[in-house]
Amino acid sequence: MKKILVTGGAGYIGSHTVVELFNTGYEVIIVDDFSNSDPKMLDQIEKISGKKPEFVKLDLCDEQAVHAFANQHKNISGIIHFAAFKAVGESVQQPLKYYRNNFYSLINIITAFNSKVKLVFSSSCTVYGQPDKLPVTESAPVKKAESPYGNTKQIAEEILEETCAVTPDLRVIALRYFNPVGAHASALIGELPIGVPQNLVPFITQSAIGKRGAITVYGDDYNTPDGSAIRDYIHVVDLAKAHVAAIKRLEAETGDNYEIFNIGTGKGSSVLEIINAFEQSTGEKLNYAIGARREGDIEQTYGDVSHSNTVLGWKAELGINEMMSSAWNWEKYLRDNPF
Ligand code: NAD
Ligand code: WQD
Repeated sequence: MKKILVTGGAGYIGSHTVVELFNTGYEVIIVDDFSNSDPKMLDQIEKISGKKPEFVKLDLCDEQAVHAFANQHKNISGIIHFAAFKAVGESVQQPLKYYRNNFYSLINIITAFNSKVKLVFSSSCTVYGQPDKLPVTESAPVKKAESPYGNTKQIAEEILEETCAVTPDLRVIALRYFNPVGAHASALIGELPIGVPQNLVPFITQSAIGKRGAITVYGDDYNTPDGSAIRDYIHVVDLAKAHVAAIKRLEAETGDNYEIFNIGTGKGSSVLEIINAFEQSTGEKLNYAIGARREGDIEQTYGDVSHSNTVLGWKAELGINEMMSSAWNWEKYLRDNPF
């Protein structure tokens, strides 16, 4: 059985991906330092899969520890590298924290496993900024990053592309995720936001359960059909499956040794449509008010996903109703079973 290293596998997208890797018959070893996750996630994965993933706790910024890990685990056939810090606002306040963690971890992983690496990298639609043309394709220009976090994704892509160009045995797929939301159908794993959620869907579910007050819709004066901003929301389980498809493509060794794929549904939804879908799919009434635009926000984005549909052989299957109902079931699970 092939063994995949999942860095950041205790986190939101990582935990869902571990479940999908198990479903597809892979062995998994997780490395995480729990800097933004909870050890209990490993038990939750086991409850879903009937298998406990092998786990090593380490900080991927620790070069010696990562090299020692690589020497002790020579049977790893692929790596999915999720581990990174991801809070946009915090990255503006503490840029070095973000540059240090997101670059050191990536460079340590690649050098420790040297040229034999087959690696899937978590990138983001944030690299496009406000695209000139929608839906945005992978060949659209990368815009100047709005935050140090976004910059870490842009520079990490450059690091990977430049390294692949001179290392023919290295194979990398960068997945540019649109907006991941929702939770596993079992409601045993999901997102664990720290403090007040900055992202829309966790704020909605926490507001509905009474942990937060009313939702503020950041702007209704955009040039969109209902005036609120548009994003391409993607169910985290669909996103997890895209990683399995990427690992399979890396194993097949077809195509260039550095490739990029958009991972979204290809469909944009406005903030007001998301609020409406939540109410419709859960039967809960939300409290919300229109507020000012949020600084740094773009008006609208959604991906052209034809490249991932045809070349990666992956397609999103779940819609916004499933995204909202699964996010809500997870919020209720957390209320009844606090972490
Ligand atoms: P998350 O914070 O839930 O998961 C990241 C995991 O990595 C956490 O478990 C954390 O403890 C671990 N980690 C961080 N630094 C580490 C280190 N130095 N050593 C070991 N473990 C470390 O985040 P997520 O939402 O699952 O995101 C996963 C990846 O996807 C990140 O690279 C993120 O930037 C990227 N991404 C996320 C989104 C999103 O909206 N969630 C969108 C686009 C891209
Ligand atoms: C979605 C929409 C808000 C909260 C961020 C990162 C991006 C990526 C995903 C990692 C926007 C509106 C939000 C609220 C609102 N992460 N909103 N009220 O900003 O598209 O992307 O997460 O790579 O890099 O920037 O996601 O969920 O914060 O916002 O009206 O209380 O919801 O204005 O239009 P965003 P989000």
